Amino acid sequence: MSTIEPRRESVHVALGERSYEILIGRGVSQEAGARARALGARAVAIVTDENVGALHAGPILASLEAAGLRTDLVTVSPGEGAKSWRVLEDVCEGLLAARIERRDLVLALGGGVVGDLAGFAAAIVRRGMRFVQVPTSLLAQVDSSVGGKTGINSPHGKNLIGTFYQPSLVLADTALLDTLPAREARAGYAEVVKYGLIDDPAFFAWCEENGAQVLAGGPAREHAVAVSCRAKAAIVARDEREEGDRALLNLGHTFAHALERLARYDAARLVHGEAVGIGLALAFRFSARLNLCPPDDAARVARHLESVGLPTRIAAIPGLAPDVDGLLDAMAQDKKVVAGALTFILARGIGASFIATGVAVEDVRAFLLDELGAPASA
Ligand code: GLY
Repeated sequence: MSTIEPRRESVHVALGERSYEILIGRGVSQEAGARARALGARAVAIVTDENVGALHAGPILASLEAAGLRTDLVTVSPGEGAKSWRVLEDVCEGLLAARIERRDLVLALGGGVVGDLAGFAAAIVRRGMRFVQVPTSLLAQVDSSVGGKTGINSPHGKNLIGTFYQPSLVLADTALLDTLPAREARAGYAEVVKYGLIDDPAFFAWCEENGAQVLAGGPAREHAVAVSCRAKAAIVARDEREEGDRALLNLGHTFAHALERLARYDAARLVHGEAVGIGLALAFRFSARLNLCPPDDAARVARHLESVGLPTRIAAIPGLAPDVDGLLDAMAQDKKVVAGALTFILARGIGASFIATGVAVEDVRAFLLDELGAPASA
């Protein structure tokens, strides 16, 4: 591994008057109290889930109280089911019952589910309250806590109800990842690899060298989180509302969302980052099949994902044997379908991804037929 000293990183998300900092490093969540004070809050309501709250709420509450802030805790059940109208209502009512005023802060303590839910509640309670993200999963630290996508799910699909609403601060405390189950860490790592595949081939090569250390913790992890946040911040700064380049962040996600839908969002079989691992491998193999990308690059992507234990084939999902029409149908329900044509993020090589509109459904069908006949690993 190349030598990287443990350090604190700061990434600026440049969005004019909605700009904010992402602080990355071990222990940064211990600054929650001082940072909330600096933001002018008198009270902070933490929104968390039962699992994360039991592990991490105590020290953050202590930091807030040591800074003289009034605190409250709004706790939801763990899992994707919390991204619902019912739980959103509970959170909004919980924030109002906590007498949190507009100058105060909502603090989202958790993974992507809590961040999306608490951020959406913050966006609508009292017509908009400031909020701080304290992401506790690798996936949330490198992706969902940054960039202001908030919302809940609908029976029509994931994340279909929500708003772009930027946090005032992100505290990405890498020490909080020490308690992350290995499977969740691997799943988040798929989103790290994604940044290399989008436009940073040197970072992908670094991941090939250091992926195991990122998962093990230590300075490689901080570096990976910082590079990922910097990459995402740059994209969000030039296209906050996904009218152009931000769609690149969906590399692998059209396939991933369809697979998650077919697996009925059953985390025992497939979590989002695993679906992204498969989706990234599929996006590169599809690009190679369309003669856009060297087949060696597609093989290299799958090799690296598999080297850290991520799935890269549809057959690797337990109990899922979709037919091609079911899969195409699930893909067509993804929100990135424009006027009946499929939009994919494809690649001309590692670090050379681009937005491909109007991809022919027949090409997708032929590719998926091959993939559905393939064994579980490359
Ligand atoms: N996770 C993709 C985005 O934030 O745009």
